[in-house]
Amino acid sequence: MVKIAVAGASTGIGRHLVDAVIYSGKHQCVVLSRNESPEMSLLGVELIVVNYEDQRTVVSALYGVHTLISAFNHKAANLDVSLVDAAEAAGVKRFIPSSWAVHDIRAQVNRYHGKLEVDKKLEKCSLEWAAVDCGVFMNYYATPTAGIGYLRPLKFWVDVENCIAIDIPGTGNEPVTFIRCEDAAKQVITAIDLKQWPKKAIKMHGDCLSFNKLVDIAQNIRGKAFQVNYLPSEDLKRGYEDNAAGFVRQLDIAILQGKFDVQPNIEDLPKPMLMEEFLRKWWAKG
Ligand SMILES: NC(=O)c1ccc[n+]([C@@H]2O[C@H](COP(=O)([O-])OP(=O)(O)OC[C@H]3O[C@@H](n4cnc5c(N)ncnc54)[C@H](OP(=O)(O)O)[C@@H]3O)[C@@H](O)[C@H]2O)c1
Repeated sequence: MVKIAVAGASTGIGRHLVDAVIYSGKHQCVVLSRNESPEMSLLGVELIVVNYEDQRTVVSALYGVHTLISAFNHKAANLDVSLVDAAEAAGVKRFIPSSWAVHDIRAQVNRYHGKLEVDKKLEKCSLEWAAVDCGVFMNYYATPTAGIGYLRPLKFWVDVENCIAIDIPGTGNEPVTFIRCEDAAKQVITAIDLKQWPKKAIKMHGDCLSFNKLVDIAQNIRGKAFQVNYLPSEDLKRGYEDNAAGFVRQLDIAILQGKFDVQPNIEDLPKPMLMEEFLRKWWAKG
């Protein structure tokens, strides 16, 4: 049993990580948050309110912690820099930065630039660290059902509710790895038991398929042909603005470059739910 701290766990993948630690029945969980949370108390999870601008509060929250996982949202990802300092000062052994997509694409996606700031610190630090390469969270394809989990409801390329697929990049046959947040969290907490982590990134076991295959499965389940349009590769250019549409176009480019084809680098992680089972769970009638 070790103590696992999650920073940024009120929502999103961080909140799924808390569930996974509890589910493991093996490790102790401590949550670092900017605010009190009655929900965490009900779950029996220790929550420590910290002020990320006051390093002493963070260091003192981390004493006794073995692994620190950052799940800050992209706007706060630069806080990973001071999190590493605090972790070293408190004697933490391992660290996962807030990457949670594909670590190698950060430089080419404006919205992820804050995530790059921690790199220099990681190169020199005493912590064992690895980012998590997980591809795209599958939960989005359940929007607006409860299958979204703790993510904010969002339709990303394929809108299963309205049977449409908009601006599918390239031919739609390029590989993309999808994983449920629940499975990503479970795999990460299982990886805590490994004696050593792979260098740079732990690559998850997700479901690697294409958007065309996703649409195929969704059409069968919804019993209706989807309206689909494609964005040809020649229409995708570099240098998009830092807005929601520009963010997706930059992900499109990474998809066309094959960077969302996440090949696992650890054996024996819990098997993920595949896209077909997931879509059936949330969209099949009766
Ligand atoms: N691969 C994918 O498909 C995918 C999709 C979405 C996100 N992601 C990635 O997953 C990571 C988490 O994103 P998310 O969408 O899950 O995050 P989120 O739900 O928006 O926020 C996660 C937590 O960050 C903390 N936080 C937010 N703003 C903060 C601030 N200004 N200062 C300090 N803490 C702050 C909050 O914790 P407290 O309120 O408790 O302090 C919050 O619960 C990011 O790296 C993101 O890029 C990946």
